[in-house]
Amino acid sequence: MATSDGLMLVDRDNAGVANAFRADVLKGLSQTQKAIPARWLYDDAGSQLFEDITQLPEYYPTRAETEILTQHGDEFADLIGRNRAVVEFGSGSSVKTPLLLKAIDPAAYVPLDISGDFLRAAAKDLSAKFPRLPVHPVEADFMRQVELPKAVADLPKLGFFPGSTIGNMVARTAVDLLRSMRETLGTGAQLLIGMDLIKDEDMLVAAYDDAAGVTADFNTNLIARINRELDGDIPADKLRHEARWNDDFARIEMHLVALSDIAFAVSGERFAMRKGETIHTENSHKFNRRTGNMLLLAGGWEPQKRWLDSKKRFSLILAEARPNRSAP
Ligand code: AVJ
Repeated sequence: MATSDGLMLVDRDNAGVANAFRADVLKGLSQTQKAIPARWLYDDAGSQLFEDITQLPEYYPTRAETEILTQHGDEFADLIGRNRAVVEFGSGSSVKTPLLLKAIDPAAYVPLDISGDFLRAAAKDLSAKFPRLPVHPVEADFMRQVELPKAVADLPKLGFFPGSTIGNMVARTAVDLLRSMRETLGTGAQLLIGMDLIKDEDMLVAAYDDAAGVTADFNTNLIARINRELDGDIPADKLRHEARWNDDFARIEMHLVALSDIAFAVSGERFAMRKGETIHTENSHKFNRRTGNMLLLAGGWEPQKRWLDSKKRFSLILAEARPNRSAP
């Protein structure tokens, strides 16, 4: 950036991220059940490892959702129409987003992302593929209500939230997000949201503990990030990746399990783990028709139509934000 002002902005930003990361890690490691929010898995190396995960034979969600988007374009066009602005929560996948945009040929596209770099790259990519589509990127934390660009103020909205990212949140956080999406998008909005399905435990565990060890690397990369960015000395070789099915909460949990008693420091604070103790690093909730509908309704969205892939592994749901009305 050319101006000193611009450079300071970047510095402040990086310092802000580092402070939030440090606070989350120190708090999480101080708990009885150690836990670190899953968002910190996605530094540059982690984001690349997640891209690699989507190509794994065991990791079916990306392929299943892409199949749904490929197969039902005509129905999306019928149910969504052509006059909406598509608002994508997260800067978008280079595969899924074009499939949706091709199917419905919308009036505008608004990618939202907290990372300006990802956002600009995705917006540029998309503009090249769809030269006549107005693209209005917005750098924002979509967990809160977002002010959309004036250019799309008068257009009805379609929210797009693929990947079953909603499943990475516990129910109360997911409901908060769905409600803030409703505020952001306005009455009459629709939401197209991916939800991974409850299925055979072995298939789920394999998807999060692949034979090639890419998901293990993705999980363990968090330790490398803590050691590098927060001056830590956590022995990564003493922590083993584990994917567990929690049947009560219908979710896959990623943990890092201590292989022996260990002690370490992060940012000058000391911590210890007994052999077998874990750091909980991610939840990935799975849904069925009723639990998915219940979650959407709790967040203010009425399910309108639901599609599955041919092997019934993944669901894509179209929901709408109806005006509030009295009910029994
Ligand atoms: C980011 C929701 C697509 O929960 O499946 C993949 C992340 N974690 N393998 C998921 C993830 C481990 C993922 N999503």
